[in-house]
Amino acid sequence: MKKAEINRFGGYEVVELVEGSFPTPGEKEVVVKVSYAGVNPLDWKVRSGMMKMVTGSKFPMGLGSEASGVVSEVGNKVDRLKSGDRVVLTTGLKGGAYSEFVKVSEANCCKIPSAVSLKDAAGSYICGITALQCLTEKGKVGEGSQVLLIGASGGVGSFAVQIANLLRAEVTGVCSTPNVDYVKSLGAQKVVDYTVENPTELKERFDLVFDAVNAHSWKTIKPLLKPKGIYVNTMPDPVMFLRQALTSVFSSKKCKTYILRLDREQMSWLLDKMDSGEIRVTISKTFPLEQVANAISENEIGRTRGKIIVEIDPSSN
Ligand SMILES: NC(=O)c1ccc[n+]([C@@H]2O[C@H](COP(=O)([O-])OP(=O)(O)OC[C@H]3O[C@@H](n4cnc5c(N)ncnc54)[C@H](OP(=O)(O)O)[C@@H]3O)[C@@H](O)[C@H]2O)c1
Repeated sequence: MKKAEINRFGGYEVVELVEGSFPTPGEKEVVVKVSYAGVNPLDWKVRSGMMKMVTGSKFPMGLGSEASGVVSEVGNKVDRLKSGDRVVLTTGLKGGAYSEFVKVSEANCCKIPSAVSLKDAAGSYICGITALQCLTEKGKVGEGSQVLLIGASGGVGSFAVQIANLLRAEVTGVCSTPNVDYVKSLGAQKVVDYTVENPTELKERFDLVFDAVNAHSWKTIKPLLKPKGIYVNTMPDPVMFLRQALTSVFSSKKCKTYILRLDREQMSWLLDKMDSGEIRVTISKTFPLEQVANAISENEIGRTRGKIIVEIDPSSN
């Protein structure tokens, strides 16, 4: 059984494809025969050691945080899933999704509805949940909210534009020239090409500025907010936590950071929206498992439109 892992932190060269032993499920776990895995910035952050405060430095370390596939074995206390079910899963910070078989808690799996392909589902967990929670729980977006979405063409941003639309918000997406038509096609009412116009100099004021790619500072975003506006980013560092605490008490404009919380019900909601065609996943590139190091490096460049997917065993789709 092939799987991707690292034995030290570093660049492209530290990613190894090795032979592993078949996993055995614990009581509340399932083993999934993986079809596809989604590539996320978390992969190169883990690979490089940027995340070692949370991952630790114990090697070998498995890579990959989300995948789709078919359940091949279930633990004896698993009651929601059975062998043969098509599922999307997350391995979270534990990693190990770039693998022919992966063992995961039943709680971290969701059944995939019939109209959603295993390939589309593979890239939906991390970005979909992040977009949904940043918009609703952090950003309090509702009907008529004016939202500025920075990084609208990326993994999180592509979901966020579509979800904000479903919530009947008015979305202004920010991306570069090659992605302007793409972001419009996702449903943004307005698109700002940041190579032409600096989004921090816009005249409009927003209820929410969601900087999905952490491109701008709180200082430059703050003037874009309405008096009770909210700024959300996806980079939870100590400075952001301090600002979050301070603005929660001393400012009407709020600065918030985000850490993903796994939520199966929210994931089911997203899958239903994908099933009905209200949310679509754009896959810009697919790499075979043998080229997983290239797939991660491609994402690291920072120009991914939608999602990059690693194909592991497409035979079940
Ligand atoms: N805290 C958490 O729990 C959590 C969870 C999920 C993700 N994240 C983080 O969220 C971030 C975004 O993730 P992702 O999957 O969306 O990344 P991604 O797909 O790799 O982002 C790539 C996109 O960023 C856009 N971009 C780059 N620079 C930009 C700029 N200055 N202005 C506007 N857009 C820009 C690019 O568009 P152009 O080519 O048009 O520039 C590209 O489409 C990552 O740092 C990730 O680690 C955090």
